[in-house]
Amino acid sequence: MYSEKVMDHFQNPRNVGEIENASGVGTVGNAKCGDIMRMYLDIDDNGIIQEARFKTFGCGAAVATSSMATELVKGKTIQQALEVTNKAVMEALDGLPPVKVHCSLLAEEAIHAALWDYAEKHGIKIEGLQKPKSDIHEGEEEEAEEY
Ligand code: FES
Repeated sequence: MYSEKVMDHFQNPRNVGEIENASGVGTVGNAKCGDIMRMYLDIDDNGIIQEARFKTFGCGAAVATSSMATELVKGKTIQQALEVTNKAVMEALDGLPPVKVHCSLLAEEAIHAALWDYAEKHGIKIEGLQKPKSDIHEGEEEEAEEY
């Protein structure tokens, strides 16, 4: 049911860990399954993402998507990182089963949360970036509370 790439990134996740004094750190949670993902980004003075690491307390698909997401944003500009949507992550992983699509959304939101943190720390506004919801759960978005 999982592609080889998903299994690979699940079994050998890339970029696991933390970045000390990261430029931006974002944590997002899925209220439905209780899984949590934290993303650390190191962004240089030119706005290039030099390093990306993550910690995921969650399912295999969440681990695989966060692993792939960190690989995809490394070396990118902030604007390019915004194009690393959950769809892009899923495509890079050769797809996910439909019931696992929400796990990839967590990866996208984690990137956005880390970029949001970076923007706040630097007092800048990133074009096209919105503060992500901490809770992501299908069909219940209206009830999601920000905290
Ligand atoms: Fe929770 Fe996958 S089941 S993120």
